[in-house]
Amino acid sequence: MKKETKIFSGIKPSGDLTIGNYIGAISQWVEIQKDNECVFSIVDYHAITVKQDPADLRRRILDIAKTYLAAGIDPKKSIIFQQSQIPAHTELAWILNCTGTNMADLKKMTQFKDKAGDKQDGVSVGLFDYPVLMAADILLYDAQIVPVGEDQKQHVELTRDIAKRFNNEYGTIFTIPEARVHKAGARVMSLSDPTKKMAKSDESKLGYIALLDSPEVARKKIMKAVTDSGDDIDYDPINRPALANLLTIYARLGNREIPRLVKDNKGKGYGEFKKALADVVVKFLENFQEKFNSISDEETEKVLEDGKNRALAIAEEKMKKIRQAIGVR
Ligand code: TYM
Repeated sequence: MKKETKIFSGIKPSGDLTIGNYIGAISQWVEIQKDNECVFSIVDYHAITVKQDPADLRRRILDIAKTYLAAGIDPKKSIIFQQSQIPAHTELAWILNCTGTNMADLKKMTQFKDKAGDKQDGVSVGLFDYPVLMAADILLYDAQIVPVGEDQKQHVELTRDIAKRFNNEYGTIFTIPEARVHKAGARVMSLSDPTKKMAKSDESKLGYIALLDSPEVARKKIMKAVTDSGDDIDYDPINRPALANLLTIYARLGNREIPRLVKDNKGKGYGEFKKALADVVVKFLENFQEKFNSISDEETEKVLEDGKNRALAIAEEKMKKIRQAIGVR
């Protein structure tokens, strides 16, 4: 990746953030921000595609901003802002709805199919249209790289298609972005079902570890995590997906390489391995939470205000070109 590459990514405030969000997304951002121009958003208009309690939503928006700060995103260098504060996101989403996106594209989105299930006619139009708002987020900032977990790759692919179609119609307005997923931990799986992604919306609270879970709760969840048959420690994602998932979490939160971990744990049983993993997770959470708790709401609001002003300048500049290109100005 070249220096000063433009980066955009975001998280929607729709539930407790998990170590899956951290491993798949936020930890990548912390690495990338050093040499690049980064914009990280709390994408609140994505959260309202399903019903949200207003007071909870407000709290979660601030907590996600605090999470970015506690994880090590530097607000002096990177822009941290709340999506709804920049009207250009929804404006551009509307334009892209009309040029660049077909119904067939959105019908193919696996996340929509998973979320809507057999109730497609009963969900909000917003849930269906959500990838277009995501495309607008990315394209407004001319992002070249979008660091995400694997579940978002399809949406970034769609963003590329939308941008190319728009450019074909109106000239080169948009940069074509690329998704970037981390090799280990692009898809952290549920602790209670290794065939499902670890998700903040998981009904079984045993399936995920929230970044704000207490150490005792986190330890209990690790000790209760399902395991595969077999009793030695080995990395085999196909035949032993549950153990492979635990090894990935261990490696990423403990800063270790998987082959080395396997070697060091040879001869140990699941119980002993899980205890060591729980220690690593608890240490990570304690460190994270100490930082999180030291950041005040006022400080966070200030960061968001500053981020809003910086993001607004970029987004407005881009919108001028887009409005001109389509002929409304
Ligand atoms: P969201 O809010 O569901 O998730 C935020 C980020 O966390 C990653 N992630 C995971 N990575 C690995 N393992 C997991 N179990 C796991 N769960 C979540 C996601 O891949 C994502 O990177 N539509 C997006 C938010 C969004 C966005 C954007 C992202 C809106 N606009 C523009 C990038 C660029 C979403 O719902 O992510």
